[in-house]
Amino acid sequence: MAGIIGYVGSKQAGPIILEALRRLEYRGYDSTGLAVGSAKAFHVRRAAGKLRNLQAAVRMDPVRGTYGIGHASWTAAQASSASPDGPAPAAPRSLAVVLCGKPTNMADLRSRYSVALPADPESSDADVLTRLVVSQREDGAPLEEAVQRATAEVGGSCAFAAIAEDEPGKVVVARRGLSVLIGLGKREHFIATDVRAILNRSRDMIQLEDGDIAVVTARGVRVMDSEGLPVSRMVDHVRWDPLMAERSGYKHFMVKEIFEQPRAIRETALGRLDEETGEVVLDELGVTSRELRDIGHLNMIGCGSSWHSALTAKAMIERLARVHVEVEYGSEFRYSEPLIDRKVLTLVLSQSGETPDSVACLKLAHARGSKTVAVCNSEESTIAKTARGGIYTQAGPELAALSTKSFTSQLVALYLFAMHLGQVRGKLPPELSKQCARDLLELPSLVESALELTLSCERLARHVAHGSKFLYLGRGLHFPIALEGARKLQELAHISAEGCAGGEMRHGPKALIDADMFVVVIATVDDKHRLSRLRYEKTVAQIGEVAARQGRVICVTNQDDDRLRENAHEIIRIPSTSELLQPIVTIVPLQLLAYHVAALRGYDIDQPRDLGKSVTGG
Ligand code: AGP
Repeated sequence: MAGIIGYVGSKQAGPIILEALRRLEYRGYDSTGLAVGSAKAFHVRRAAGKLRNLQAAVRMDPVRGTYGIGHASWTAAQASSASPDGPAPAAPRSLAVVLCGKPTNMADLRSRYSVALPADPESSDADVLTRLVVSQREDGAPLEEAVQRATAEVGGSCAFAAIAEDEPGKVVVARRGLSVLIGLGKREHFIATDVRAILNRSRDMIQLEDGDIAVVTARGVRVMDSEGLPVSRMVDHVRWDPLMAERSGYKHFMVKEIFEQPRAIRETALGRLDEETGEVVLDELGVTSRELRDIGHLNMIGCGSSWHSALTAKAMIERLARVHVEVEYGSEFRYSEPLIDRKVLTLVLSQSGETPDSVACLKLAHARGSKTVAVCNSEESTIAKTARGGIYTQAGPELAALSTKSFTSQLVALYLFAMHLGQVRGKLPPELSKQCARDLLELPSLVESALELTLSCERLARHVAHGSKFLYLGRGLHFPIALEGARKLQELAHISAEGCAGGEMRHGPKALIDADMFVVVIATVDDKHRLSRLRYEKTVAQIGEVAARQGRVICVTNQDDDRLRENAHEIIRIPSTSELLQPIVTIVPLQLLAYHVAALRGYDIDQPRDLGKSVTGG
């Protein structure tokens, strides 16, 4: 999912929309379009492929006007269509609609409106929506009323905006599930589904609520609820620095973001941790200490990397707070009959705060009476706004499609939460709290040291970039890190990579190991923990088993151990920390390895194919 943009003011809308679309590119898309109007003219341009194609179309045939809308979106399912998703003019009283997200009932709308709408199976969702809005204006209704009626017909999560030639200077936008922000300027306003797109233009934003429709003109913003009744919405000031959303000399956003991890970790802990006592304060949690003491168990829900961080955090929470934690995939939980009630605390993890499966789970948990907490990197997101409370990571804008700094910041936020829960439930004694705090304060410098491995990872990448089979193994907290390491390689370098719990190797994956397989083994140990030592010994033995099958072992370790040297083809040595924080250091070389392999293979790093920043549908 990329997103939609709108502008209305006194400047030329075209360049503003194109620039905002560029800032949305990181979310992935395969077609773009814009519609711009003035009192005299109405222009629509569309292009398949990258944004540069739309820019070229506009250069060839310029658009002039001070209000307009634009989109960047996926049309993979309609790639053969002559009519890519986007502003769909085609209507007699020129009208354009841009759409973000995937309405669930488009097939139904196509057939229900088969008289009013030409039942063209090739037409895109935006085309259908355009015709739907047009049909709602046939009685002379103003654009906002037509959009409101159309919104009532559309199912699923989406956001869309419309402009009409006969109502110049007006953009109407509707929020149906997905986030919509309106940035306020001086006699100009900006609309976006992602704060990053307009952060350089405005930092005072209105976030629409679900079902809202806003009429945006240069003079002001008028918001109505789903019934058409006027409502007032708060103006939020966004604290992110727009400069954070630039590449600052790095070749790709992803590598910049990998290198920003020490800062992101520091800022996520900042102001929440008393360095002397180790006490953790989470001001925005929305759940009182008394309620936390009363909790029966915890549910943690996420998708993709957020699910991996939930699984890692399960061990943190169970060890520091002695509370049972269930970890669920968003896409499974939402279609289940969960056994939850008010004694269950549900943590929904999502860096974007917009993943529809996770949004649906949050609503389901809420409806069942569970207390809900969002763990998000965006305080303006749907999940952040819907949950009762939140723990916000301070990773700053993450523009590469792959999660890196948002993943490690999530782990830091959840470590703080584990400490806090342990403290209020009397399970984390003061001495242990102080030790946890010391470990956390030391972490950014350890991650900095791990980042120095970038040249070794690049060298290693040259040896393995031709590989087509990778297995990642890890035990304990490093099992989800093995999953995350494998996922990074899949997403970015498009290589078949599997993550596996170390002990599971002999229950199946072992059959795949041969001289063509690279086996990345996480072999770290925290000497202070008996079980960690035991896990390490098991891992060392397992490396021997892999080597015996000619598998090519890449070992990520904090040890200097002859037994590893004997069997590993490559050793990446990382700094040591406590077992609970070690995953945050271990993941760094795995991110770097995936990055360098993908770069060597010549893939698109920041917008890998088939990967959007916030995944819609489900
Ligand atoms: C991570 O690199 C992926 N882009 C993907 O797995 C992602 O973690 C997942 O889609 C969930 O996104 P969210 O955290 O924004 O909800």
